Amino acid sequence: MSTAKKSPPILCISSGKGGVGKTTFSVNLATALAQRDVKTLLIDGDLGLGNVDVVLGIQVDHTIRETVENGLDPASIIIEVQKNLFVLPASSGVPEMTGLSHENQLLLSSVLEKIITDFDLVLVDTAAGIGASVLWFNKWASANIIIITPDPTSLTDGYALMKVLASRQGKKGFQLVVNNVKSKAEALNTFTNMAKVLSQFLQETPTYLGPLPKDTKVIQAIRSQTPFLLSAPDCPAARAIHLIANQLLKQAGLQGA
Ligand SMILES: Nc1ncnc2c1ncn2[C@@H]1O[C@H](COP(=O)(O)OP(=O)(O)O)[C@@H](O)[C@H]1O
Ligand SMILES: [Mg+2]
Repeated sequence: MSTAKKSPPILCISSGKGGVGKTTFSVNLATALAQRDVKTLLIDGDLGLGNVDVVLGIQVDHTIRETVENGLDPASIIIEVQKNLFVLPASSGVPEMTGLSHENQLLLSSVLEKIITDFDLVLVDTAAGIGASVLWFNKWASANIIIITPDPTSLTDGYALMKVLASRQGKKGFQLVVNNVKSKAEALNTFTNMAKVLSQFLQETPTYLGPLPKDTKVIQAIRSQTPFLLSAPDCPAARAIHLIANQLLKQAGLQGA
C-alpha cells in the first residue's frame, strides 16, 4: 500500500525567447501565492544560467546539479526565502546540465518527485529556447504557462515553443501571459493574434491569464533584488500578478487566503 502524498500542481513557465520576463513573473507569482498561504516551491529550471537567486537576492550554496550528479539530499538544498516560499536553486555558467541527458532526466525526475509532495504548488522557471531541459520541464508539468510580449520575435519564438510541445509531447491547453504591455487593449490584441495562429495551425485554444504591464517599478525591484510585489505592492504590475495568482489558484482547486 502506498503512503505517498499526492503530487501538487506543477506550473511550468516558458517563453521561447529570453528576456521576456519569465524569471520576473515566476518570482513574483511565487511571492503572491506564498502570501495566500499556499506553500510554494519555485524551481529554477534554467539549469545552465539560473538567476532566480539573483532576482530574489538570496545566497546559494548548493544546486539541483549537485543533487543529480552527486546524490546530495535535495531537501537540504531548498532555501526558505520567506514564509511559504521555497526555492530550489540552479547553477549558473554550467553548460553540461543545459543539455540534460536522458540519464540526468531520470535522475532529476526521481529527485524532484521526492520533494514536491511537501508543497501545495510547484512553479518552474525555465531557460529560454527549446532545449532539452525546457522540453523536459514542460512535459513534467501539469500546466504550461507561456509568456509572450507584443514584440514580433517573442511571438514567433513563443509559437515555435508551443508547436514543439504540442507536436512532440501532445501538450495542450497553453496559458498565455502577455508581458511588457502599454495597455490592456494591446495585451488582448496580442493574445488574440496568437490564439488565431494556434487555432489555425495547431488546432489549439489557449487560455488568457492576463496582461502584465510594462512598469518602471519592475526594473527598480530587479535592481534591488526584491520582488516588486514586496517593494511596490500596489504598482500596476503587482496588481496584475495578484489577479493571475487568483485565477491560477481557482484553476488548481486551491483555496488561498
Ligand atoms: N513588466 C515589466 N516591466 C518592465 N520591465 C520588465 C517587465 N518584465 C520584465 N522586465 C525587464 O526585462 C528583464 C528580463 O526579465 P527576466 O524576467 O529576467 O526575463 P527572462 O527570465 O524571460 O529571461 C528584466 O530584468 C526587467 O528589466
Ligand atoms: Mg530567466
